Parts: sequence; structure tokens; C-alpha cells
Amino acid sequence: MTTDHVLTGTDFTEGILRLKSEMHAVILAHYYQEGEIQDVADFVGDSLELARRAAATDAEVIVFAGVHFMAETAKILNPRKQVLLPDLNAGCSLAEGCPADRFLAFRREHPRHVSITYINCSADVKAASDIICTSSNAEKIIRQIPPDREIFFAPDRNLGRYLIKKTGRDMLLWEGSCIVHETFSLRKLVQLQMDHPGAELIAHPECEEPVLERARFIGSTSALLKYVQTSAAGQFIVATESGILHQMQKAAPDKVFIPAPPEANCACNDCPYMKLNTMEKLFACMNNRSPEILLSAQVMERALAPIQRMLSMS
Ligand code: 13P
Ligand code: SF4
Repeated sequence: MTTDHVLTGTDFTEGILRLKSEMHAVILAHYYQEGEIQDVADFVGDSLELARRAAATDAEVIVFAGVHFMAETAKILNPRKQVLLPDLNAGCSLAEGCPADRFLAFRREHPRHVSITYINCSADVKAASDIICTSSNAEKIIRQIPPDREIFFAPDRNLGRYLIKKTGRDMLLWEGSCIVHETFSLRKLVQLQMDHPGAELIAHPECEEPVLERARFIGSTSALLKYVQTSAAGQFIVATESGILHQMQKAAPDKVFIPAPPEANCACNDCPYMKLNTMEKLFACMNNRSPEILLSAQVMERALAPIQRMLSMS
């Protein structure tokens, strides 16, 4: 592709598809990516499905349209592949709020606890964990822990609280949260429900308790997407990152999807990290074969065991 004219979305799509076949690459995208990135991807999924796809692919290069911890997980699961991420700054507030040194210190203070760690964390934190989980398998994994074992759950306190309620298991929680899911305004949600009495409120378990208490259905991004297709309702208020609406609208074009409103007048239901990835950066990372995810062999080896435990328990 020449760059002496202003590149359009179509140019990027063509360039990305051409590079994909030249590089023998697979493009994996999370539901929170821009619609045009989702449309150019080979597979769009939640964090568990993306990890499984990354582990199973025989492509030479994994282009990960998501955030850093997801791309790291792909690298750990398939270390011989080159893993590219369009923007290395695509982080996550949960991962940032749980630095490995503090996590390790906490574990040393609670040596008897089994640590079940949400996949939204760094490779170093994974390496210091017993079992990894995502929002779609956490409940199943917790139910497999013998009742006499104490559990430490990190880093999302909202997901942790939700799981305590669901499973009846008391767990020690890390005090972390997602800046997107803690932003929804209960006040505006109540108003929205009054304005749309037939609409079902559906929510990701990273939302705060008062939002979850009002929700008709709670689940991971994939579970929410499945739910809107099977529910008899025609309207949904969606309390998660707004990128998921793209697939919901595609899967159920006759239904109405209303993004849950943040408290401030902002686009705070967009994940600022996820949205760092653009078509332009996706094209550039493939063209330059950079930025690339690189991890030490030691960290990858130590982080693999808790991820594999998750895969075999889910
Ligand atoms: P899912 O596992 O449901 O895709 O969630 C990932 C995430 O980052 C939610 O904020
Ligand atoms: Fe992290 Fe929240 Fe963004 Fe998900 S939506 S990647 S949990 S900051």
C-alpha cells in the first residue's frame, strides 16, 4: 500500500487482509474493539475464547486486537508464535491496580490461601497465582476448590463479591476494579428502565453490586451476546463496554440495544485501553511486525501452569 494519499478505512481493510495472508497470521479480536476491527478479525470472542483460539492456532503470527494481558496470555499459551499488539499501551485498570510485588507480598501474608486470579492481570501476577479464571469460568472453578481450602481472589472486587454471593464461598478479595464497569450510573439506569419498561437490564459481573442487583442477566461478554439472542425480550439495556453492541446488533438486528449510561457526560462506557487500537495501528503493527509481545522464558513457564489449570477446570 502506498502512503502518499490519505488512507481510508477500506484501504486499511485491504492492507490488513493482504498482510494477513502474506504473514500467515490470524487476527483475534475482543468484543470491545471498534466495529471495523471486529469485522476484519478471523475470530471475535471473550477473553476465554480468545485464549483458547490463541492456544490452538497453527498460524505463524497472532495479531491480537485486544489489551496487553490478553496478548500476553496468547504468547504464554503459544510461545513459538510471534504475537503482535497494535498499541502496547493498551493496558487494563485491573491489571495496573495489581502490581506483582504487592500481589506477592499479599500472598506471603496469606500462605494457606489458594489464589484464583482473574485473567485481567499481568504475566508476572499470573506466574505468582495458583489458578487463572475469566468471568465465564470463575464460578465453575471456585466450585471445584475443596470446601476446607481458603480462597484469595484478585484483582476485581466486584466480580469477587458477585462470586461470593453465587457460590456461597467466603473469599479474601483484592481491592481492584474496572474503570469502565464502575462508571455506570444507578440513578440514570433507574430512569432508563422507567423510560423503557420492556427492556431487560443485562450486565457484566465487573459492574458494581447495585447495578448487578437490578440486572435480569449477568455474564461474560460472550454470555451476554448469547443471552440477547435467546431472550424473548426485544430491548436490552447493556451494562458493559459499548463495543459489544456491534455484535449484538449483528446477531439480533431486529432488537434494540441501549448502552447503560455513565454518571458523567462522557464516553466512559468505552474502555480507553481497548480503544487505543485503531485500524491504522492494526495495519502498522502487521506491516512493521511490531509492537511485539516479548516475555522471559521463566515468566512464561511459571504463568503457563495456572492458565493450563484454568483450561482443564473449565
Ligand atoms: P470477558 O472475559 O467477558 O470478555 O471480559 C473481559 C474484560 O476485560 C471485561 O472488561
Ligand atoms: Fe480492563 Fe475494564 Fe478495559 Fe476490561 S473494560 S480491559 S477490565 S479496563
